[in-house]
Amino acid sequence: MRVLYYAPDDSAQHWVPELQAALQAAGLPAQVQAWERGMPTADFCVVWKPPQAMLDEQHSAKAYFVTGAGVDSLLTLRFPPRLPVIRLDDAGMAVQMAEYVTQAVVRYFRGLDSAEATMRAGQWQLPPVRSRADFAVGVLGLGVLGARVAQALATFEFPVLGWSRSPKQVGGVRTFHGIAQLPAFLQQVQCVVCLLPLTPETDGLLNAERLAHMPRGSYLINVARGAHVVDADLLAALDSGQLAGATLDVFRTEPLPPEHAFWGHPRLTLTPHTSARTLRSESIAQIVHKMQAVLHGQAVVGVVDPNKGY
Ligand code: NAP
Ligand code: GLV
Repeated sequence: MRVLYYAPDDSAQHWVPELQAALQAAGLPAQVQAWERGMPTADFCVVWKPPQAMLDEQHSAKAYFVTGAGVDSLLTLRFPPRLPVIRLDDAGMAVQMAEYVTQAVVRYFRGLDSAEATMRAGQWQLPPVRSRADFAVGVLGLGVLGARVAQALATFEFPVLGWSRSPKQVGGVRTFHGIAQLPAFLQQVQCVVCLLPLTPETDGLLNAERLAHMPRGSYLINVARGAHVVDADLLAALDSGQLAGATLDVFRTEPLPPEHAFWGHPRLTLTPHTSARTLRSESIAQIVHKMQAVLHGQAVVGVVDPNKGY
């Protein structure tokens, strides 16, 4: 069996030998190589942000495995019809996302953002005490990561609302679905967490109109993709006080360009796309398991629906 790996960084030095060893241990001896132009057709490709040239050449693979949860960078390429794209399904990301989002929500709820600022300014000033019942958190996207985040927030006794494309039931979460229910959802939450996939339908979803539906002085946490947010509308909402603060882990252009207005904004907390990292050993174990299933003609979770875009 032949497997090709591609990522636009130097991670092949780890992924190639570790994937090869894991396949061998699973009884699937394979030659795993970093992709280069002109290589013979592989059985499987394991990729992050592959170039169009790889898809053009490696169009007869049995499947493309993506080493992340989001597949937006792949679906903008010209893709051979019927070639399955299989994304990571949790693989250790859900607990990381629950940790990250919970700390960001708790920081706003407890006023730790303003306490940090006043202490830095040399002032001893207690932040106001808020009522938990009045601090509802709304999670956009109730998939693998969003549902886990919503449940983690519910254990801290925040009222939790969730929004998805199709109707969903998640324990402890009041659920909404579809674009028609989005305004009612936004009007009831003091903090919005974005965990949607980036698709033509969700691109720019968090614009001036949607931010205006949120109660004045509420918060935004974007851990999905930068393009969900219209940057200028977010800045205007922060500057007018419509939003009291935002935590952004993802950006339209990454790394965030040095001249971008987000840098240094007093109401923004920025992190470098680190809320849920791909964990190599968990991910390799999941990919090997799914390769075995594909080879045996069995169904696997995480197969991307090209019509939905996630
Ligand atoms: P997922 O399991 O596919 O869940 C996606 C959720 O979004 C589903 O609940 C889906 O609704 C909902 N959704 C999709 N389109 C919608 C629409 N137009 N309107 C309303 N709801 C919609 O994805 P996941 O594994 O939770 O990952 C979510 C995203 O997180 C990824 O796509 C990726 O961009 C991002 N991510 C970021 C990081 C990071 O480090 N910052 C790490 C990993 C992932 P249905 O349930 O009805 O289908
Ligand atoms: C990271 O952003 C991912 O989609 O896994």
